[in-house]
Amino acid sequence: MLQCWAKQQNYKPIEVSSTDGCWIYTTDGRKIFDLRSAHECINIGFRHPRVLQAIQEQMQSVVYVTDDFASPPTAKLAQKLAHISPGNENKKVYFCQSGAAAVEAAIHGARLYKYNQVLQNERYTPDAPQQYPYPYKIISRYRSWHGATNVATSASGDPRRWFTEPLTAPGFIFAPDAGGPHSPFDTESVDENIAYIDYIIEQEGGSNAVVGVLIKPIVGSNGIMLPPSGYLGKLRELCDKWDLLLIVDETMTAMGRTGKMFACEHYGVEPDILIMGKALGAYCPLAAVIFSEKVAQSFDTNYFGHGQSYSGHALAAAAALASIDTLIEDKLLEHTQAMGDWVGRRLLEIAEKHANVSHIQGIGLFWMVHIAGKDKNKPVRRATEKYQENIVASISRYLLDQHNIYTPGDKFGIWIVPPLVVTQEEMSWVLFCVEDALENSDQIE
Ligand SMILES: Cc1ncc(COP(=O)(O)O)c(C=O)c1O
Repeated sequence: MLQCWAKQQNYKPIEVSSTDGCWIYTTDGRKIFDLRSAHECINIGFRHPRVLQAIQEQMQSVVYVTDDFASPPTAKLAQKLAHISPGNENKKVYFCQSGAAAVEAAIHGARLYKYNQVLQNERYTPDAPQQYPYPYKIISRYRSWHGATNVATSASGDPRRWFTEPLTAPGFIFAPDAGGPHSPFDTESVDENIAYIDYIIEQEGGSNAVVGVLIKPIVGSNGIMLPPSGYLGKLRELCDKWDLLLIVDETMTAMGRTGKMFACEHYGVEPDILIMGKALGAYCPLAAVIFSEKVAQSFDTNYFGHGQSYSGHALAAAAALASIDTLIEDKLLEHTQAMGDWVGRRLLEIAEKHANVSHIQGIGLFWMVHIAGKDKNKPVRRATEKYQENIVASISRYLLDQHNIYTPGDKFGIWIVPPLVVTQEEMSWVLFCVEDALENSDQIE
């Protein structure tokens, strides 16, 4: 096996014998708390009995058929997602197997939609000379990760795109981040930030050349960052002004992670295209692109020119349906909100006591304790230091070695992203251990 984003010579994965709830049991007798929820894939905890039962039952009838056929779980899941996601229900859903594949499908779909619009709408008759006959540019943001396939990587501002440059896919333009210590804009300067994106759109050719804006509503793997107040609503208005699509990537934040089914619900924003993955399939690889009525309609009489093997996997869809039922019936969204509020308050207390914490950010059960750099107001790591080991990795190692708590340590801070089924008792213990690790971080370094 190759470990992702790592030199391989010291790769020594921990041997696992079983998993349950928030816990991973190892063959050498350890019981490890997963404070990253298998990278947000197991929001409902490991091996939830309702999902396991749904998978077992589904295996008795249909596991997979192509989309020339329909199976009940796949059809029901598309209906369910159309119903629970923001906006009217007349959407269409495309299923795939990973977040990156969903990002590819979303971008492909967005460009095809614009292509159809150009053919059918005189307003879009391009000014000559044009390099390309229809809009293709996508505005993304620097602090973003959208996946490891070529187009998804090209859409990512994250330094991981540098591995493939200069051979990234053309057509992606990066805007500054919404706020926070990495942004050139003041957190409060939403209007200035939006005006700058407006300027980028105009300079890139406006509606004649630009398809849309691709965002993560809450930044995740570039250090958890909430959008400043009013930002997403104004971005929606900006997209409407230019007739651009707002493409929202909720691969990490959907399925209750932030206390609502979708993070964009916190901001009252309706995307034109919504991407989800990770926790959707519970324990099966499953992702989805939800096209709003406006976009989906364009494929009624035009080709949806996209496709992949294993799209609409019935077994994964059955798991997803059971997982959504679990979130709703077990009141896990309410639990996540209440627990998240408490976690936020505790983290604030911890942050005030420890000089090595620059700030905390999060919502629901999606938090990060951002670790301070040498200058407390600057982040611990600059973009150009992505692969340099720093104190965050040491703190994470300490948590694993001393307290059997797993949280990957290669980022900007300590991820506090437990399974949504975490109990108050478990969370109190986790935060006690996090505080201990922060207290000892001088010695750790
Ligand atoms: C917002 C976002 N989009 C897309 C992806 C890629 O998903 P996958 O790893 O399933 O391809 C990720 C992965 O972390 C993500 O966080």
